[in-house]
Amino acid sequence: MKNTPIPAAIVDKIVAESGIKEVGKASIREVKRLINQIETASGEEFVRMEMGIPGLPACRVGVEAQIEALKQGVAALYPDIEGIPALKNEAARFVKNFIDLDVNPENCIPTVGSMMGGMAGFMTFVRCRKERDTTLFIDPGFPVQKQQHRVLGLKYETFDVYEHRGQKLRAKLESYLEKGNIHSIMYSNPNNPSWICFTDEELQIIGEVANKYDVFVFEDLAYFGMDFRNDISKPGVAPFQPSVGKYTENYALLISGSKAFSYAGERIALMVMSNKLYKREFPDLVPYFRMSQLGRAIIYGTVYAISSGVSHSAQYAMAAILKACNDGTYNYLDDVREYGEKAAIMKKIFMDNGFVIVYDKDGDKDLADGFYFTVAYPGMSSDELLHEFLYYGISAISLTTCGSERTEGLRACVSLTPRRQFPILEERLKLFNENHK
Ligand SMILES: Cc1ncc(COP(=O)(O)O)c(C=O)c1O
Repeated sequence: MKNTPIPAAIVDKIVAESGIKEVGKASIREVKRLINQIETASGEEFVRMEMGIPGLPACRVGVEAQIEALKQGVAALYPDIEGIPALKNEAARFVKNFIDLDVNPENCIPTVGSMMGGMAGFMTFVRCRKERDTTLFIDPGFPVQKQQHRVLGLKYETFDVYEHRGQKLRAKLESYLEKGNIHSIMYSNPNNPSWICFTDEELQIIGEVANKYDVFVFEDLAYFGMDFRNDISKPGVAPFQPSVGKYTENYALLISGSKAFSYAGERIALMVMSNKLYKREFPDLVPYFRMSQLGRAIIYGTVYAISSGVSHSAQYAMAAILKACNDGTYNYLDDVREYGEKAAIMKKIFMDNGFVIVYDKDGDKDLADGFYFTVAYPGMSSDELLHEFLYYGISAISLTTCGSERTEGLRACVSLTPRRQFPILEERLKLFNENHK
């Protein structure tokens, strides 16, 4: 048995007792529990890269506005389902200032995280046209959105974009859309888990095929502005957050408070629909929503039915954060740049020790450094690597659980790895490499 930072006997015993047959196929929550147990039994701290949760303090502007709103008594009152006017107005300004798209405040709908925004969208988009009952995911992607489809009994199709970047994306998308069953195309940008960012050429292709086949594009901007290769932090000044909204009016965006503003605990996001999509009428909606206008069906049908709106005080927080960004008094990207800086260092540590980056290019550009990156060790499958990492006190998740066809890759998240652990990560990966060469 090789010399490893965590004794093999401890790891093997806990894995056997957990009942998990294949560690590589376990869910994030199962991996988390396993690691907690190994940490307790061995007394060794893991370098934890499995969970995609923010690792920074919540945006102060938001916290102060939320406390003030609570003191004013908003906790006692139901919020308007469509959102408080201050938030809707600041959201429309934000979309203009940072994406350069014109939307009416009416179309900016607060949701309980992007999680609920996604669910509300899927539940409504699938009812717009009887013959279009399927979502198309451009993968890899966020596994919980597929879970939403499963619990709702909704259909989806998916493909890994790895082999279909650039101009190749058009033919791949058309091969699905020409069948006529797809209502929406869904992806995140920057992408969880791979951190690829679509180029303008790719966004244009997505927009053009969406127009040609009249499908909606559901663009998940959970990591808004966090492609740190471009500084999009100045209100009203280019460059802007790239978006398919430049190329089609069939878009709905999800803008989350969780990562950009470290506001995950308060569960707030915005769904923003184009002026055209919000107003579009679909007679097939009527049996389910008693109305045919899509935007109103989402608010007064779906959001009403799920949660009757969003926490009142969190809306005041988000309104204040967006106002400060719009007024230029708060540069949110300065707060989150830390993720990119850490990723650059951590990627180098992996690569210096025999690992390769799996998703590595956007067009001819190297991938941005950000919240996630993907790694593989030549000759090892992701399942083997994940299991083997347990002996080295390192955790991550398998890319195959995110719809990736790259069976060798893992996703690493930088947020919960403090800088003080970098020497430990380096030492462990060095030993790993020596033991596996
Ligand atoms: C791509 C993507 N979408 C949505 C979410 C969920 O965001 P929220 O916290 O706003 O529900 C996440 C969180 O990790 C994500 O990575």
